[in-house]
Amino acid sequence: MSRDPDPAVIGSRVEDLDTPCLVLDLDKAERNLDAMARAFVGTHVSVRPHTKTHKSPRLALMQLQRGAIGVCCAKLGEAEVMAGSGITEILITTELAGPPKLRRLIGLARQTRVITVVDDAIAAEQISEAAVAAKLRVRCLVDLDIGTNRTGVAPGEPAIELALKVARMPGLDLVGLQGYEGHLQHVVEVDERRDQHGAAVSLLTQTAERLREMGLNTEIVSTAGTGTCNMAARHSAVTEVQPGSYVVMDTDYGRVHGIGFEHSLMVLSSVVSKRNNGVTVDAGFKALSIDSGPAVPKDLDAHYAPRGDEHGLVSFENGNPLAVGDRVSLIPSHCDTTINLHDQYYVTRGDRVVAIWPIATRGRLQ
Ligand SMILES: Cc1ncc(COP(=O)(O)O)c(C=O)c1O
Repeated sequence: MSRDPDPAVIGSRVEDLDTPCLVLDLDKAERNLDAMARAFVGTHVSVRPHTKTHKSPRLALMQLQRGAIGVCCAKLGEAEVMAGSGITEILITTELAGPPKLRRLIGLARQTRVITVVDDAIAAEQISEAAVAAKLRVRCLVDLDIGTNRTGVAPGEPAIELALKVARMPGLDLVGLQGYEGHLQHVVEVDERRDQHGAAVSLLTQTAERLREMGLNTEIVSTAGTGTCNMAARHSAVTEVQPGSYVVMDTDYGRVHGIGFEHSLMVLSSVVSKRNNGVTVDAGFKALSIDSGPAVPKDLDAHYAPRGDEHGLVSFENGNPLAVGDRVSLIPSHCDTTINLHDQYYVTRGDRVVAIWPIATRGRLQ
């Protein structure tokens, strides 16, 4: 049986929240949302933010209010939740395969304007057949591997060959290309990131230009995350960017130069035990992901290291100002995977809790 959050905490001080809990500083998150929207005003590029990071229809609606042309989802389950919250324009950025997924994709396409991606002719044919059986056409992007080596067909001839096949499939509407350069998002130095990004995105834009010359539809050329979206508008064939992490940021992105968004996300923890060189807090693996390293204590000259599922050690080089019961805010190292561990955001302005928002697509792995 799940336990609903306690609405009585609204209006209370952040410090008085029960812990561990995920805290979203709304002033900072709004500044991040505004900055991203502003960055593309007057350019030929639109923003289609990736909701795999925040997992919140509420935040997705705030992005749409600021001019986003739709949203991205990584999983069908995320898209189903976003569609159920009234979001009508959804790009699913990962390849879908197998009968259960096709059934659900068709169900989703009946409710909302969905776009799928393909990197394989047989998989595309299966989606097309399912769409024809349902008397639908599903919009589709050919997904290109521009260096991440995860999914996507090779740029150039292999991509063109696939695009020609997709364009002939009766259940699919080819609407363009996707190429996400995930491997470049965390390249620390701006110049190095820009050079590598230029080379990777050229693979995408050159393929798009060839498809256009052949008369194929390339109205969408979708690319980029938080680390590279400010470089995308240099490329005339790019039509939209897919940033996700910028809303909340994390310490992994905090190390990357030239990004400029604020950390709006923290895990609030409590000191439960005093040690010689520091304190133990009640936030371990279950509260903070560590795939990008340990979290960083906020406003403390200290280090955090997980000490098992439920605990973490906050250690100081010199002295130890904390006592049992004190609160420690920890900035997550990777926002997507940390948010996925929590049921809700405790939303704050200044030092007060102003709302509790469900993390509605957490755990929607399918
Ligand atoms: C396909 C795709 N697009 C966009 C993003 C957003 O990237 P970021 O969170 O770095 O902004 C991701 C993140 O993993 C992704 O996989």
